[in-house]
Amino acid sequence: MKTAIITDIHSNIEALTVVLDDIDRQGYDRIICLGDVVGYGADPNACCDVIRERNILTLLGNHDAAVTGAMDESYYYQGARNAIQWTRDKLTEENYRWLYSLPYTYVEEDVGFFHSAPVMPSGFFYVVQNQEAMAHSQIVDRLKPISFIGHAHQVMVFAINAKQAVLVKHTDIKISNHTRYIANIGSVGQPRDRDPRACYAVWDHTAKKLEYIRLEYDIKSAADKIFAAGLDSKFGNRLFKGL
Ligand SMILES: [Fe+2]
Repeated sequence: MKTAIITDIHSNIEALTVVLDDIDRQGYDRIICLGDVVGYGADPNACCDVIRERNILTLLGNHDAAVTGAMDESYYYQGARNAIQWTRDKLTEENYRWLYSLPYTYVEEDVGFFHSAPVMPSGFFYVVQNQEAMAHSQIVDRLKPISFIGHAHQVMVFAINAKQAVLVKHTDIKISNHTRYIANIGSVGQPRDRDPRACYAVWDHTAKKLEYIRLEYDIKSAADKIFAAGLDSKFGNRLFKGL
């Protein structure tokens, strides 16, 4: 079985459409979304609608939580907070209720799905620094062989055991009894790893292999909508650079 994993769409319907079209063409068995469907971008309803219509299993991201009031919006700087309030005003009743209903985690026999650090899903912590990965060493026996997370908008995999955490290439994942993996899945709608292309990943449950896919999309159209909506222009400008 192959699972396509998408995350951090951030109201970017142009990027989401290209990613879903590619997933459909490849014919993967299912899609799981790790959250942050909204925030920053100009198309919150279009993104929620398409994910709801397709019944894609979706987790709660921090922006989704802030929009619905489950997270204190004062955590955010002014521009992001404005986008959160703007999104809240724009959301349809159905989409607001749907975001409100999303869970923090989805865990199966061999794999876990989270928006952010598995050690505390409601805390929305990053796992991009070694010490953040190391925070999981104390619960390493409780982790599934591999956990997929969003939130950082970067492509990055850590191998963790009871003593250490090390950054590894995604092609070097070797599932065993001693090592647990946390894989950052990147971002569909706002990549921050200096590659502006939309990102998603595919986990092959049989071969135990992770693949990242990058796709060009109409960045100008997504950015122009952000500018026209009066949201912080930084959210549009960064799309061109992948920052
Ligand atoms: Fe995000």
